[in-house]
Amino acid sequence: MIENFLESSKYAQELFEIDDEIVEKIERESLEDKVPIITRDVLNFMIYNANNINAKNILEIGTATGYSGLFLARIANKNGGKLTTIEIDEKRHKIAKENFEKLGLLDKNEMILGDALEEIPKLDQSKKYDFIFIDASKGQYLKFFEMSYGLLNENGVIFIDNLMFRGLVAESDENVPKRFKTIVRRLREFIQKLNKEYNFILLPFGDGVGLVRK
Ligand SMILES: C[S@@+](CC[C@H](N)C(=O)[O-])C[C@H]1O[C@@H](n2cnc3c(N)ncnc32)[C@H](O)[C@@H]1O
Repeated sequence: MIENFLESSKYAQELFEIDDEIVEKIERESLEDKVPIITRDVLNFMIYNANNINAKNILEIGTATGYSGLFLARIANKNGGKLTTIEIDEKRHKIAKENFEKLGLLDKNEMILGDALEEIPKLDQSKKYDFIFIDASKGQYLKFFEMSYGLLNENGVIFIDNLMFRGLVAESDENVPKRFKTIVRRLREFIQKLNKEYNFILLPFGDGVGLVRK
């Protein structure tokens, strides 16, 4: 058991180096603007997983500024496929498109502006994805999951970030602030369901990462 978890987490994050100035700037500006982008340790692990299965077509729910998406797009494009990413916020979607443009990724991938709950059903339901990254509003995770599982290829992976919601999912009820009670209850129910009914593993690092393999 690692007692000094925060230092260990920092150590793991520092193993992921970004040598591309544009990408580094996207990360920095997103953090300065308080956009909740993926942390480097979880990103590193996600890239590792997507690469391991040679993910060709990738779906991302929650683009934000396109930071995680740019890495996923590169993997998908390398394998002859594309990233489809969905963002509800117009301003973030615009920034993400500009970022993809700067990196030459805009033409090869699909960036959708809209509510994923409405946009996922509009996707070509016969097209399957090898890797799906769920990273939007946590209260809707179960819905995102149920909508996208049918779009996952055999052996495909669904990668879910922030499942433990700042660790609150593992706290006793009296330590969960009132305003977070509903979201924490929903996340717990979601985790229990995944654990019982799917090929699922919960990893308590970052903000809690869940993997489902079909
Ligand atoms: C945690 S951020 C995504 C971070 C991004 N994946 C990254 O790591 O670079 C979550 C994003 O999901 C978006 N979002 C929330 N609910 C959504 C929905 N129903 N449909 C699409 N996007 C949504 C938010 O606007 C926000 O930009």
